[in-house]
Amino acid sequence: MVVKTAHEMAKEHRAISISEFFEKNRHLLGYDNKIKALLTIIKEAVDNALDATEEARVLPDIYVKIEELEKEKYKIVIRDNGPGIVKKQVANIFGKLLYGSKFHKLRQSRGQQGIGISGCVLYSQLTSGQPTQILTSTGDGKTHKYRIKIDVKHNEPMIEESQVIKTDKWHGVQVTFVAEGLYREHKQSVIEYLKQVAISNPYANIVFDSPTGKVEFSRGVQVLPKEPDEIKPHLYGVEIGILTRMLHDTKARTIQTFLTSEFSRIGSLTAKKICEDAKIDPRTSPRKLTEEDVKNISYAVKETKLTKPPTDCLSPLGNELIKNGLKKELNPEWVDAISRPPTVYRGWPFQIEVGIAYGGSVAEPSFMRFANKVPLLYQAGDCAITKSITKIDWRRYGLQGSKFPEAPVVIFVHLCSVWVPFTSESKESIASYPVIIKEIKLGLQDCARKLSLYLSGVRKAQMIAEKKRIFERYAGETAVALEELTGSPSKQIEENILKMVEKRWGEINGEEDTEEQRGEGQDRSQANTEHNG
Ligand SMILES: Nc1ncnc2c1ncn2[C@@H]1O[C@H](COP(=O)(O)OP(=O)(O)OP(=O)(O)O)[C@@H](O)[C@H]1O
Ligand SMILES: [Mg+2]
Repeated sequence: MVVKTAHEMAKEHRAISISEFFEKNRHLLGYDNKIKALLTIIKEAVDNALDATEEARVLPDIYVKIEELEKEKYKIVIRDNGPGIVKKQVANIFGKLLYGSKFHKLRQSRGQQGIGISGCVLYSQLTSGQPTQILTSTGDGKTHKYRIKIDVKHNEPMIEESQVIKTDKWHGVQVTFVAEGLYREHKQSVIEYLKQVAISNPYANIVFDSPTGKVEFSRGVQVLPKEPDEIKPHLYGVEIGILTRMLHDTKARTIQTFLTSEFSRIGSLTAKKICEDAKIDPRTSPRKLTEEDVKNISYAVKETKLTKPPTDCLSPLGNELIKNGLKKELNPEWVDAISRPPTVYRGWPFQIEVGIAYGGSVAEPSFMRFANKVPLLYQAGDCAITKSITKIDWRRYGLQGSKFPEAPVVIFVHLCSVWVPFTSESKESIASYPVIIKEIKLGLQDCARKLSLYLSGVRKAQMIAEKKRIFERYAGETAVALEELTGSPSKQIEENILKMVEKRWGEINGEEDTEEQRGEGQDRSQANTEHNG
């Protein structure tokens, strides 16, 4: 047995670069198998393309290509029409993990961590040995071409090629990866992902050049959702460690101004009360606080009733965009959507949106989960959305099945937030905070109620039609019988019966067919025409 001393062990200690860490733990970033690896690359690049175009307020035009080069080796191209990337930033964005523009901002975006696209570069070089090629232009007539790898030991970019090339004027980014993968078209595939992206981003036009042919997901609307504003953190969401760092970094001279200037919705009265409860003079310099003081502030915050954070940092889709997305991609008989009012978990604003598409081309029950407009295809079992769906008794809404509806419905659930509580770095499922579950359930119940009204209307109409058919079928025979009894001509009697039937059922339809029952049923023919056209 070899016994090591602390001194001997000390020789083995060294820092680990973040790239080295993810090189070993690529499953944490979504590269746990070859099929999923292709999806992850497309997902990271498409998410970035949509974030960039939305931030630049441009209607997204996205081109995706997957080409099989040899067995299990693919060339993957993603191009967008966003603002492009300035030359100085290209190398770090693609060649350094944990480098990005969104991590420090409190506003809704698809990306959060600054690891997505460099993770793709890392996986590509690991599995093919090849650098990633980037073409980008900011619209100034110059296109910058780069070929980049990551120096894994130091988490630094290695630029293999960098030049300015002459092209037509354009703006955007085109990235080309060569990586190991496996292209399949099942439920958790690239094509399903892009279809769901087209539903949750109906203002985007997406062309997919796949190994099996070209598919276009056409833009359904010409408007972008509302632009989210950046907000400051809310005190309820800040833990002791972060508070300590913020106290160290702040330019505020007193603890009172620190609280009012660095956090959202803290007025001087509230700041004074927190200081009072924590037994600290509000004029104390933030840097002079002891560990004990910081703890006391944190306890005092928990005991103070704070105003909720502003919610203009969110960019929900809204009912019309959800309905448009569902209609254009699924061609249902009926569709409706609702947006819950924004609320807060642990100090972070969030909002739930639910849509249901029923019948038409929807043949089977399924559900789609979205976080900040990004489809979530894996880890459904762990997700707050799945758990909420299974808590609804669908039979109460005229659908069979208790945990999941057993009817031709697609359930769409979208959570948007400045900070989505994912259960892991690969951003696949949403943590089950009770307030999140509650909001999703309320949204689902609201929307299911609308569907149930529609279905009872449909069922009633079917019943009426059936009755009408029976009366019409026997009108002739009844008229003959009545002619024998009364002597009046049967033709006239039959006409009168048919008129009465028409009048009776017409009146019932008029009384019962309320606005809500009609829902989007009225839009049905229009929706189908829009889609088919
Ligand atoms: N297509 C693009 N157009 C413009 N800027 C881009 C594009 N792709 C990436 N960027 C910039 O590069 C940064 C890093 O991208 P990356 O995907 O690594 O991280 P992220 O999107 O910030 O977060 P996440 O790791 O959650 O995806 C982004 O924050 C963005 O500023
Ligand atoms: Mg990203």
